[in-house]
Amino acid sequence: MNERKLLQLEMDRTLRPEGERPSSTTVMTRRTFLHKSLCYGAAGAATYALLPLINTMDVAFAADGQSFRFAWLSDTHLYPKSLNTRFVDKMVRAVKEIQGMNPPADFLIFGGDLAQLGDPVELKLGAELLGEIKIKKHFIPGEHDWYLDMGKTWSKMFGAPPWTFDHKGVRFIGLDTVSHGPDYWTARKMTPQERMGHMATLDGSVAGPWAGLGSEQLKWLNSTLSSWGKDKPVIIFSHNPLYEYYPQWNFWVRDWREVHEILKPYSNVTNIHGHTHQALYNEIGKLRSIGMLATSWPWPYAPEGVPVLTRPMIRADPGDHFDAVGWSSLAVSGMARVEYEYMMWRKEVFATAPVDSGTEDNRNQILSPRIADRL
Ligand SMILES: [Fe+2]
Ligand SMILES: [Fe+2]
Repeated sequence: MNERKLLQLEMDRTLRPEGERPSSTTVMTRRTFLHKSLCYGAAGAATYALLPLINTMDVAFAADGQSFRFAWLSDTHLYPKSLNTRFVDKMVRAVKEIQGMNPPADFLIFGGDLAQLGDPVELKLGAELLGEIKIKKHFIPGEHDWYLDMGKTWSKMFGAPPWTFDHKGVRFIGLDTVSHGPDYWTARKMTPQERMGHMATLDGSVAGPWAGLGSEQLKWLNSTLSSWGKDKPVIIFSHNPLYEYYPQWNFWVRDWREVHEILKPYSNVTNIHGHTHQALYNEIGKLRSIGMLATSWPWPYAPEGVPVLTRPMIRADPGDHFDAVGWSSLAVSGMARVEYEYMMWRKEVFATAPVDSGTEDNRNQILSPRIADRL
């Protein structure tokens, strides 16, 4: 066994003590409903309808017995309309569907990457489109929103996380996992456009391991949680996943060890994240993590590290830009359940073959050495 595998095993043992799971009342039922609602128009031609994929989990949420629903939208990656309206079209569709929810959602979380290249024109276009949604909105940034002007436009328009609020027995927390990247631009004398350009690539070969909370925010998280009961429900929103899935693409935060240390005493924490643009599910210790869809494009699963609990979605049809993307609706019920629905615009959702990109090795693959450790 090579050194990397040994390290993975060791880290897996450390983070997954035997028998430790999210709250003992939590069962991921794996009941999945595919709503086969392919529509046929007057001419008999098939058109796409909304085909929700529903994963139902039984969890001890909403302790005071109130039910509610909220919506998640992220990774719209807008270009100025003069360049490209493909991503605009998809965001418009998601916005209409969210505004059309009946009964309406209590609030919307926008999970980052509103813009493609941080251009104020893109951010303003996003704000204008989101203006069609009349419910309360909360925002966290993505790296694509931030690195042209280091968050100036974003913060002015949407405020800056971290933030927290309590709603019907659940504590909600919004984190900033994007703004603490190490400075790779000053020594290289990069322009803001060049800095943003490197940040906008997936492989991160120049920008490096940028995702993280930073020490101030970790302290804030610790103190924010300390005033909340250890067994009471917490939902944490972040752009990047709060565990180590695939550091090379910043599908992680580099200080995930510290995050897990802080979250350890709390038995009912769910992390909902964007950035990965794919259906993802993971449990590490008592923390459960759910990855959300993008409206822009689906990323492939990483070549390693796909959590074993994830049921992968099938690869997208490259000829259909509405395929394998969408938004999400999350319901929290007084019957101790949370349901999340991927509102995915496609005909088939899950892979039927056991093997798809990056998912064939489903043992000991959760963790790989941090980029930071290798440097
Ligand atoms: Fe994104
Ligand atoms: Fe992102």
